[in-house]
Amino acid sequence: MIFDWPARMRQMADFVGFTDEDLELVRASGPVLLPRADELAANVYEHFLSYPATARYFLTRDGEVNEPRLEKRKHSLARWMRNSIEFKIDEQFPVFLLAVGVVHSNPPLPAGRHGSVPARFMTGTISFIQTQIASMLAEEISDSTRALQMSAAWNKMLTLQLDILLAGYVTETPIPPRPDAPLMDDDGREIEPEITVTPESSRRNGSPQTQQEN
Ligand code: HEM
Repeated sequence: MIFDWPARMRQMADFVGFTDEDLELVRASGPVLLPRADELAANVYEHFLSYPATARYFLTRDGEVNEPRLEKRKHSLARWMRNSIEFKIDEQFPVFLLAVGVVHSNPPLPAGRHGSVPARFMTGTISFIQTQIASMLAEEISDSTRALQMSAAWNKMLTLQLDILLAGYVTETPIPPRPDAPLMDDDGREIEPEITVTPESSRRNGSPQTQQEN
């Protein structure tokens, strides 16, 4: 696991193909999306409130919506949106994201009395936001190719953020490569150890295919 968060984010940016051009597209979307940041935050919270599993974080003991908390959270989310438009991989932003992730995985009291926000809702929220942003860009930008390019740039950038937001949840215990270990089949029978990796050009779905040599 990489603990140099900016380095990890740069590695992921490279992996998802987030380029300087994408960075420019995200920045250029600012004038279109900023005026709608509060609306986006309101939509996210309306969505949370429509599912009991996510609404419960925003209810009082009597089951009423805790309006002051909700307003505070909407502001936090709108502020995060604004920071996202000024996205850059510097020393601070990845660490800020890690801290936001930890507030959800290990919430401090009083919000913590509901326990952790399950990681799948963090993933789902990013997906919801990606869809909202794509719709807003499609509505606001008449050049559909540019709207699509901006959406793609946002999708990549939000995925980079999600990786760090979830780092507060994930405990990876990587198993180091064991090149000398025999390959076994399901019945424990040893398989011919020579394998070849299919060349880059014929890979599918980004995963290396292995073939047995005859
Ligand atoms: C993309 C996903 C999300 C982002 C970017 C996000 C962003 C934030 C931010 C910036 C804060 C303020 C952190 C601070 O106090 O320093 C916060 C707090 C909080 N969020 Fe989220 N959030 C996300 C998903 C969720 C989900 C899915 C839930 C629950 C359904 C949730 C519930 C909360 C709660 C209860 C707090 C308050 C913690 C407290 O008051 O101590 N968030 N969130």
